[in-house]
This record gives sequence, C-alpha cells and structure tokens, in this order.
Amino acid sequence: MTREPKRGLARNTANYGDRDFALYLRRSFAKSMGYSQTMLDRPVVGIVDTGSGYNNCHRTVPELVEAVKRGVLAAGGLPLAFPTVSLCEPSLFPCSMHYRNLAALDTEAMLFAQPMDAAVLIGGCDKTVPAQLMAAASVDVPCLQLVTGPMLATPFQGERLSACTDCRRYWADYRAGRVSRERIGEIEGRLATTAGTCGVMGTASTMACLVEALGMMPLGHGSIPAVHADRLRAAEDAGALAVKLINEPVRPSEIITRESVENALRVLLALGGSTNALIHLTAIAGRRGIRVDLARLNELSDTTPVLVDLKPTGEGYMEDFHAAGGMPALLWELRDQLHVDCRDVTGAPLSERLAEPQFVDRRYIRARNEPVSAVGGLVALFGSLAPRGAIMKRSAATPALFEIESRAVVFDGLEDLANRIDDAALDVTESDILVLKNAGPLTPAGMPEAGYLPIPQKLARAGVKDMVRMSDCRMSGTAFGTIVLHIAPEAAAGGPLGLVESGDRIRMSVARRTLDLLVDDATLARRRTAWRAPERPPRGWDRIVAEQVLQADEGCDLAILRAGG
Ligand code: FES
Repeated sequence: MTREPKRGLARNTANYGDRDFALYLRRSFAKSMGYSQTMLDRPVVGIVDTGSGYNNCHRTVPELVEAVKRGVLAAGGLPLAFPTVSLCEPSLFPCSMHYRNLAALDTEAMLFAQPMDAAVLIGGCDKTVPAQLMAAASVDVPCLQLVTGPMLATPFQGERLSACTDCRRYWADYRAGRVSRERIGEIEGRLATTAGTCGVMGTASTMACLVEALGMMPLGHGSIPAVHADRLRAAEDAGALAVKLINEPVRPSEIITRESVENALRVLLALGGSTNALIHLTAIAGRRGIRVDLARLNELSDTTPVLVDLKPTGEGYMEDFHAAGGMPALLWELRDQLHVDCRDVTGAPLSERLAEPQFVDRRYIRARNEPVSAVGGLVALFGSLAPRGAIMKRSAATPALFEIESRAVVFDGLEDLANRIDDAALDVTESDILVLKNAGPLTPAGMPEAGYLPIPQKLARAGVKDMVRMSDCRMSGTAFGTIVLHIAPEAAAGGPLGLVESGDRIRMSVARRTLDLLVDDATLARRRTAWRAPERPPRGWDRIVAEQVLQADEGCDLAILRAGG
C-alpha cells in the first residue's frame, strides 16, 4: 500500500473501489461528530492519546490532549486524538517490555492507516516513548514527541522522596531489617505523590532527554515537571509545531540519523542514564536501518564524562535538573562533542539552537572539567560469557567490584530466584557472583527488570549492600549496584549464559571490557548437548514475540518490524 498525495481527511481513503465515495462516506461520518465543513477541510493533526486508568504516569494526558488541540486549532489544523496501547511499568504482567513492540505496532498501524498530515505523540512512562518513536521512524509521518513530564519529589521528614530509587533504597533497608513494617507502609504513600513519570534519571526521564538529543522534541521540553503550567504550554506549542510540520515538513527520517543517534548516545552517557535507554535507542535506530554498535558505545563512553548529578547515581531529582537548565544546559556543555548539523522538529540545526550560552546550576549539571565521573555511565563487556555483549552501568556500580574473578551462584529463572534467594541454606558469600538466566526477551518472562537481583537476605542483614550480579534481563533505570545486564545471546537463545552452573568461575574486568566464563570447552560441549531450547507459547502475542523478538544488542525489536523487515 502507498500513501495518496492528498491532505487531511482525503488521505488514505478506505478501499471501497471508489475513492470519491470513500471520501464522501468519511466526511458524512465525520460530520456526525459535529464538525463544520470548514473544519473538515483543514489539515489533520493526529494526537496519540495514551491516557489510561492503568497508567498513573499518564494521569495528565487528558489535559495535555486538550492543550495540544488548542495549539493545533490556533495554527489552523484539525486535531483528532486517538487511543493506542498505554503501558505503565508496575501495571503489566509479565512486564511492560514484553508489550513495547505491541504498542509500537499499534501506533505504527494507526499512524499509517488513519488520515493525518502530522502527529503529536504523547508518551511518558518507560516503554511508551520508545514505542512511539519506533512507530514514527517506520511510518515517517511528520511528527513530534510530547511527554507527560516527571513527578515532583515529596518532602518527608527531612528528606525528599520520589519514585523509584527511594522505593528501592527503602525496600533494601526493609529486607535487611533496618526499616520496620510500619515504616515501609508509611513510605509507600510518600514515594509517588504527584502525576508524572518517575522523578529520577530513570528510563522515562532518560528517554525524554534522549528525545531532545535526537531532535524529536523541542529543546527544554522533556524535563518540565508534569504538574507545572509550562507542561501545558509545551503541549500547546507541540500542537502548533505539528501544523508547522505540515507546511514545512521535517520527517523522522531526516531527524533520526546516524549522527543524531550518536548525539543521543553521548547524552545517555553524560546523563549517567538508564541502561534500558540503550535497548530502546537501538530499536528506534534499527527502524531507520542504523546500527548502534556496542564497541562504539565504549569509545564514546571513554570520552564522555558523566555531568548530571541525579539519582540513582547522584543526589538530585528531575525537577532539579529542569531548574538547573535541563537539556539546553547539558547540550551546551557537550557541544564540541556533538554533531551540531543535526536538525530537530523545528527544522533548525543544533548549532543554531545552541547559539548562546545557557543558564546552568552546577549543583546538578557539572562543567566538563569538574564532572561527576570522568568517563561515561555505561560500558559494554564482551567475552565468552557474552559474545554479543553485556551492559554495565558503571556510574551506579561499586568500583571495588570492577575487577573480579569469583564463583557463580546460579538461578535457573525467576521462580528459582524467588524460591532460593532468601533461603538460609543458600551457599553464598558476598564475594560470589549471582547469576540469573532464562529471563531474556525470548522467555515468557519477557526480559523483566529483574537484573537488580536482591542481595540474599542473610547477607543483607549482615550489612552487604552490593554484590556482582549478572543476567540476560534488564534493570530499572532507577536501580543501582554492580549489575551486568542484557547478556547476549540470552540463555533461552542458546547463549553461553545458559550453560553456567553454580560453582563455575567467572572473570569480569571493566578496565578491559571483558566478561568470561572460565569453564573448559569439553565441559561446555557436554552441557550444550544436554541443553534444550524452551518450548514456544502456543498462540497469540506471546507466540509472535517468541518467533520474532531480537536480542538485546539489536534492541529487542521484532525482526519483521525493523527497517527492511
Ligand atoms: Fe512510569 Fe516510572 S513507573 S515512569
């Protein structure tokens, strides 16, 4: 199918074999909604509405939709909002990642099939923005991203709390017996007290910043708090800009380029951002046929300092980042390392958007010569345990654990982990390496954020706060610790991780970027003979995922959805 060179409602008429009749029918049904002919003659801006009773992070979407509509109407367009799949992290089984590609497919199909000349994509919670950008990159309709924005931190008894780094910190203290049941219950009501996405530099915030770095959102719009009036003004601006994109199109294919993807990688490293964002950026780039190379990530990481001091790696919250200057200030700091010819949705190159020095509060956005860390937040490891790579967020890890050779304590899957991690009889010491396998994208678990394996309770109660942990799954962008993730190929794909047994020795060197399983070839060959691939689910979305999902180094997209299929 190809798009007709028409505007507004005349685009993509339904196939009745008579285009004039199809348009006549469409108009007559549209009139049943009370639109005048004048309105129906306007160019159309589609608004992706991801409001959902299941999605607390998108609680403000209804008012954002109204503000976008205002902007579209004032600029001479006809705004038409439509619902798509909405994904909220804690609301989904087995995990939201399992459905990111479903949301991307849904959004892609609706952007393609419905008549619209431009679109505003309203996302926020972790998987929604990547899904929308994947769709936009594939359909290539002129569009821009709007996010719901971060929640505000809550003052509480002399400290500030926000989802979800503080959730994890308090939960770890509760497991270790340092916090009572009553106290953890009280904290539960103080972690997320306003609308918006998690208030730290987790996945949602990282993705919002990367959208600015890519150019799919005007500079400065990503970090505006969800409940700030500026958020509504940003929505109104988005509506007006969408109409401008109809008259002066800048398509995603002109914005999401090899250079802008590299800019986004730089920003990810300078943010000390979420490991998940790497998978999402890889998937978005993959929709344009651009490969994110983990070896290149390491090169960038060696030359990109962490400049942003926010939780989970630092101290501040997203509202601090925004007040400190946000992305304009960060990009200004990095400007000589960026491809400044990249255009954004306004059509302007980055050099023009960064023409002036930006306001900056150094408490949260550091100067290059006084970084939080001299090197980037993420590093890729390769070796016999991870032939296609694994990721560590070194900015959230314990440097004393970076060079280690130790014994593996292996869990065969999530159920095994839940059953044994707190068993007093578990043979484990703080110098062991905890290994979780069979939790990657091909498994029914769907690559959950389980890579932040809990410290075994007996060790936590003895005061152990960090251990080396490894898996083929992910961790929340709000989590921290010496954690190796996204091991590829995953265990369920026949990767070496599937052959690891308790008692094996593993050697990791962050300095050398290596991750090796120290088991001889004959033993591994014997284990491989006994290894069996997991059974595929019988039907439905689970079956499609099992047949199509790619590994972490390819962004976990469905193979058929990548550029060229
Ligand atoms: Fe939605 Fe954290 S749960 S952004």
